[in-house]
Amino acid sequence: MAARIIDGTAIAAAVRAEVAEGVAAHIVAGGRKPHLSVVLVGEDPASQVYVRMKGRASEDAGMTSDTVLLPATASHEEVLGHVRRLNADPAVSGILVQMPLPPQVDAHAVMAEIDPRKDVDGLTPANLGLLVQGTPFHAPATPAGVVEILKREGIETQGARIVVVGRSVLVGRPLALLLSNRGAHANATVTMAHTGTRDLAAVCREAEILISAAGAPGAITADMVRPGAVVIDVGTTRVADATRKAGHRLSGDVDFDAVREVAGAITPVPGGVGPMTIAMLLVNVARAARALEDRL
Ligand SMILES: NC(=O)c1ccc[n+]([C@@H]2O[C@H](COP(=O)([O-])OP(=O)(O)OC[C@H]3O[C@@H](n4cnc5c(N)ncnc54)[C@H](OP(=O)(O)O)[C@@H]3O)[C@@H](O)[C@H]2O)c1
Repeated sequence: MAARIIDGTAIAAAVRAEVAEGVAAHIVAGGRKPHLSVVLVGEDPASQVYVRMKGRASEDAGMTSDTVLLPATASHEEVLGHVRRLNADPAVSGILVQMPLPPQVDAHAVMAEIDPRKDVDGLTPANLGLLVQGTPFHAPATPAGVVEILKREGIETQGARIVVVGRSVLVGRPLALLLSNRGAHANATVTMAHTGTRDLAAVCREAEILISAAGAPGAITADMVRPGAVVIDVGTTRVADATRKAGHRLSGDVDFDAVREVAGAITPVPGGVGPMTIAMLLVNVARAARALEDRL
């Protein structure tokens, strides 16, 4: 029997509606309107699209947003100066520095400068440290989105064997930590796999929940999937496609058509994990606004 297809777009819409309700209640209770400030350095077209989407989503949820646009030649000190200014501004609830940054800017140092309460990307050393400690505050949005999908789909993680393919600081590693922490929608036995993993197929076949965040189209084939497993595809890679007007399409890591015949449930690309990232960013901005006003 073909796998159930998980509708990430619908789950994200539900999360976004809940955030909007929470924001409205926060304002009625006398709170400030949450505000997201994005720092964008340079003119990378993909980054411009993401930043626009984040701004629009914030406004849809009843928040405000602005973008600090800096030229690709901006110095490290200049970027740090803007982060410090946003840290000090009480009207700013969340700060997001869009990656990648140009080479003259030290991305680690810039991230470390963000006030952890305003770090809605969850990537400052303080927030990553809290995650390692098992007491996350702002978790990175994409891993949090994967956990939210599992939660809302009623997929049990307690004691489950989970394999995460990928070990990046942005996705794989925080996701493995979230899922292996104690607590609800966690408490799993997690293996983090990567390019150094011996016999990746055998490791993946052990998974009751297989999550791929490799950014490698076709990396997960049907023979790597245990029958009935839940397969979550975080991969989003632009691949050339002459049949599309744009000349390209987005591809996940999973060989969707074949894996669908083996898995119990599966996320598509697009329409799976992708929409959850912005939804969980909004969750973080709303939390930041409450935290700054001691309303948590
Ligand atoms: N849906 C969303 O909103 C969203 C958000 C963020 C990222 N993404 C997507 O998620 C994917 C991962 O992002 P990322 O930032 O984590 O990428 P990344 O920094 O390139 O990390 C990829 C990880 O996967 C591992 N890997 C790559 N190919 C592999 C293979 N064939 N077998 C086993 N392991 C492999 C790498 O191993 P090594 O460490 O050994 O190199 C690395 O740890 C990308 O497609 C990205 O576009 C989607």
